[in-house]
Amino acid sequence: MNKYNKFYEEVKGFGIPSPFFVDDNKLYRENIKNGEVEFISRQAPYITKCFDDVEKNNVQYELKWFNDGKTYDEVVPATALATKREVILLANRGLSCNDRNARYLIEYFDLFLEKNKLERSLVVSHLGYVGETFIHPLLESKYRIVPPDDGELQRLNAIQCSGSIEEWIENVLDPLYDNPKALFPVISSFASILFKEYDLTPIVVDVSGISSKGKTTVQKACASVWGQPSKYISSMLTTPIAIERMAAFLNAYPLILDDTNTAHDPRALQQIIYMFANGTGKMRGSLEGSRGTSSWQSVFITTGENNILEYTNSQGSAARVIPITNFKFVNKNQDYFTLMNQNIERFYGSIGIEFIKRWKRHANQFKGRFKKLARLYQESALNNDVMRRIALHYAFVVFIAEVMNDLFQEEGISIPVCDLEDLFLMICSDNNHVDRAKNVLIEILEELDANRNNIYQDYELVSGIHAIYNKNGLFLTINFLKRKLKEDQIQIREAWKNNGLTISHNQNRKTVDYKSITHRGQSFRVVQVNQSFIEKQGFDFSIKSS
Ligand SMILES: Nc1ncnc2c1ncn2[C@@H]1O[C@H](COP(=O)(O)OP(=O)(O)OP(=O)(O)O)[C@@H](O)[C@H]1O
Ligand SMILES: [Mg+2]
Repeated sequence: MNKYNKFYEEVKGFGIPSPFFVDDNKLYRENIKNGEVEFISRQAPYITKCFDDVEKNNVQYELKWFNDGKTYDEVVPATALATKREVILLANRGLSCNDRNARYLIEYFDLFLEKNKLERSLVVSHLGYVGETFIHPLLESKYRIVPPDDGELQRLNAIQCSGSIEEWIENVLDPLYDNPKALFPVISSFASILFKEYDLTPIVVDVSGISSKGKTTVQKACASVWGQPSKYISSMLTTPIAIERMAAFLNAYPLILDDTNTAHDPRALQQIIYMFANGTGKMRGSLEGSRGTSSWQSVFITTGENNILEYTNSQGSAARVIPITNFKFVNKNQDYFTLMNQNIERFYGSIGIEFIKRWKRHANQFKGRFKKLARLYQESALNNDVMRRIALHYAFVVFIAEVMNDLFQEEGISIPVCDLEDLFLMICSDNNHVDRAKNVLIEILEELDANRNNIYQDYELVSGIHAIYNKNGLFLTINFLKRKLKEDQIQIREAWKNNGLTISHNQNRKTVDYKSITHRGQSFRVVQVNQSFIEKQGFDFSIKSS
């Protein structure tokens, strides 16, 4: 069959509305008054499908035509067929339209839609929640998922099932029972899809530790909840925009990227953490016009040799990351890893679907349980600002572990929940990043100590004034802090103030850390560092008389 015949097979079922007709793939119009035939267009276009994107509230049509040995197949917004200016733009896509025939083409498209009742498909451009409906590509729904791009298409294709839920439990979950650091991320992969229901903000779960101890293996186990791990996971070696788009496409499903070491630019990691934790993408234009903002509420599972927080300097990021550090499997030999890696690629996807189904049926019986757990965890993290902020998310994952033990009791799931509690206390005590603000101040003091010519003491400085030192103590200039701490400035200064690392005083009934001082006739806006902290850390900024 030649190409034109093939095209014709696809469109022959559609009726051409009178007074138009098609001859030899060209479009003509008969003038009813005088019976004359007018030539309209070198190709006859057919509207073959109608897509209704419920969220963006727009209708799109699939337009087909044949030209020069090739079938064209374009999806265009409804407006592209209704206004002269836009119809002419179709010329850019190879359709023969111009100032002369645009008016007739609009008439033709309108009559065409009237004559041919097109099947409407409801489309969405992402997985997860569309309003109250939850979409899983293998569960029936009225929506057709149209991924915006190839990357997203690959993720969509990864969501598949292989093996039974019993096989997954026995071969993937069971072997992780004695390792809470591995269980936590795997359970967070389930928890991810319920973040919206419980109105939780997105969070990063970062697994770090030395090489070849099974971080990637665990990540594959996380992915195996929803689909084929090798396709579901991709590398960190990508741009923040690509990560944002993937998060938006997955929407409620976990975003799993391997190896923070390979990130293009480690400095971008902080931006990525913020962007992800905010749960919304930036508004940006695209070929089809403005794409609109996208959003998600999910878990981002990362791995790397270094704790992801090493790459950031902010108190803010620390509150958005649950760090599982020093990751390793104890007493496991190579056979364990080989078997695990094989099983993960054999058994996947079924458990996730079953989890969705059973949750829908039994959600009611868990009412109130999460609140209690959250309170418990928040209390046990009382002394630590950041841990208290991630306590809510941590408690949620523990809650889901309890839910799974109940939902899959018959299949014998029995996650040792107590071990997850112990892990929380360990993270609390282990993690010096949770004291990030203090560390940042120490770093600043170290930097000043090494670069005394940035401290204004007796002589006017040639280089920038980062700090001032006089008989009253050490003062950091606001300008320097702004530059140094960037978007984290407010949070870090707040933490310093609350922990007494800087000196605060009352101003207009508010406690503030800044003040104005005069030094050698010049005035500066500054924050004073608590002298006892400086001494406790072993710094001395006074000029020693030699
Ligand atoms: N497909 C596989 N088949 C068999 N063994 C594997 C497979 N993939 C990994 N392993 C083994 O599993 C162990 C853990 O590897 P894994 O890649 O999970 O470690 P990792 O902590 O991610 O290391 P890295 O920091 O280098 O990324 C290693 O001993 C590795 O040889
Ligand atoms: Mg790895």
